[in-house]
Amino acid sequence: MELLQRLLYTALSAASIIYFIVKASLSHWKRRGILHEKPRFLVGNLGGVGGKRHISAVLEQLYEKYKGQAPFIGCYAYLKPMVLVLDLDLVRNVLITHSEHFKERGVFGNAPHDPLSANLLQQDGADWQRLNTVVCPAFAQDNISQMLPTLEKVASTMHRSLRQVSEDAAVSVNNLVDCYNIDVISTLAFGISGETLLNSDTEFRRMARSYLKDFNMFRLYFLMYFPNVARLLRYKNYEQAATDYFLKLVRQKLFEQEWSRLDKRNSFFHMFAELKRDRDPKRRLSDEEIAAQAFSFILMGLETCNSAMTFCLYELALQPDLQRRVQEEICNVLKRNENGMDSKNLNDMNLLRQCLNETLRKHTPYSFLLRNTNEDYEVPNSIFMLRPDNHLVIPIAAIHHDPVLYPEPNKFDPERFSKENSKRRHPMAFLPYGAGPRYCLAQKFAENQMLVGLGTLLRDYSFSPCRETPIPLVYDNKRLVLTPKDKLKLNVQRR
Ligand code: HEM
Ligand SMILES: *[C@@H]1O[C@H](CO)[C@@H](O)[C@H](O)[C@H]1NC(C)=O
Ligand SMILES: *[C@@H]1O[C@H](CO)[C@@H](O)[C@H](O)[C@H]1NC(C)=O
Repeated sequence: MELLQRLLYTALSAASIIYFIVKASLSHWKRRGILHEKPRFLVGNLGGVGGKRHISAVLEQLYEKYKGQAPFIGCYAYLKPMVLVLDLDLVRNVLITHSEHFKERGVFGNAPHDPLSANLLQQDGADWQRLNTVVCPAFAQDNISQMLPTLEKVASTMHRSLRQVSEDAAVSVNNLVDCYNIDVISTLAFGISGETLLNSDTEFRRMARSYLKDFNMFRLYFLMYFPNVARLLRYKNYEQAATDYFLKLVRQKLFEQEWSRLDKRNSFFHMFAELKRDRDPKRRLSDEEIAAQAFSFILMGLETCNSAMTFCLYELALQPDLQRRVQEEICNVLKRNENGMDSKNLNDMNLLRQCLNETLRKHTPYSFLLRNTNEDYEVPNSIFMLRPDNHLVIPIAAIHHDPVLYPEPNKFDPERFSKENSKRRHPMAFLPYGAGPRYCLAQKFAENQMLVGLGTLLRDYSFSPCRETPIPLVYDNKRLVLTPKDKLKLNVQRR
């Protein structure tokens, strides 16, 4: 009896301690007197995320409810207090003008024990600074231009794979573009020729899909609150099998590279490999660091490009007239200057580029940006201070759907990105790649990759909805990057 009583007391006091910790966490904004959305027990303001709702829908709702009332509000990601930035001038201050106060992103990484996390996304502070200086030049337009012939070659394989499909068949567009993007990554970032397009079940593709450990709310909470404890416990973001696979692949390729002097510097892998032998020890990259840079193409560049290319083809399938105009433009440009998909030609495909941006606006792959405050910041035109370790969320998808900035936001209208219309908007009204020192360094490359893929497809094929095409579109709430819920099938017809 006494034992039972003691157990009961222990359980009760443990429960009440947890209850008070949760309550105290969730009263942060109330104590600071800052306008905030009332949190729910344990989930904060993220109730239903990953189940009934997508994170972008939740952020959009908060943005619409509070915009105009304050430059930012408080909210809670589970128990973690977060600052939700609403005002575009404050967005510019955080990302660009006063970016020295917001240098960090605060995404957990553990380079010593989880080598693939030594990438730019997950690094902060001096580690990020060093990597950024070393890696950034590889992404300059001059270097990318040299890779265009390789992109074109991979895109032409996409052709061959489509020719195997019988006339007028429904094709899973997300699968088609996934094969293209996987082949681009395996060729340009890892220096292997992939040909996933002709043989879809490669080990590379399997690993590029299964590197992430299962998502779990407790894990997320733990990493956000106790990053240092997680580091001590040698927490890893990525599956051991995938880590071993990518490390081995990169080491083997680096070894081959040392013995063959024939390779031209026409891939990211070769440029990273050069850094292995840099004379300056500060610039020299280890095998693990090279693997992490190659891996960031999978981590950051795969689902994003898949998403944008798929949604672009989907929107064009629903607007046959617009699709025809895009196709005519591509053919005219390629006829006028017969150099194929070179920089000039891609640049001249204005309507296609506008369609791509309109896709990134309407179906923004990453719905938010993250910054962490590293020193006190007095918010202009407000009495509030942001304190070190205040994490900021910038809801870019919500901004992209703001009817004041983009009238009839659900309409797909590439005219919004004509030169005149773009100039009329606030410079922070369109941020699919972020902005400031921590923006997407691969923006230009990603644009080229997608334009070559889309241009090659639309030059020779027309896309239209079929019986299985989901209208309206349904997103997969379980994924962070915006993705269609099921396979996205379209009819493909040779022109
Ligand atoms: C449609 C394609 C893509 C989109 C929409 C996209 C979007 C983004 C966004 C929103 C960020 C955060 C920016 C910020 O916080 O201000 C980012 C960062 C990053 N992206 Fe991309 N990305 C794309 C393609 C790629 C590709 C192909 C790569 C290949 C390497 C890549 C590598 C990175 C890296 C390494 C970072 C972290 C940069 C840093 O913190 O210094 N992204 N991207
Ligand atoms: C191309 O990349 C190499 C290797 O990263 C770099 O040294 C060079 O400066 C880059 N070229 C340009 C034009 O930035
Ligand atoms: C598309 O958006 C990007 C990123 O803001 C910008 O650099 C580019 O000029 C835009 N292109 C067009 C055609 O609007």
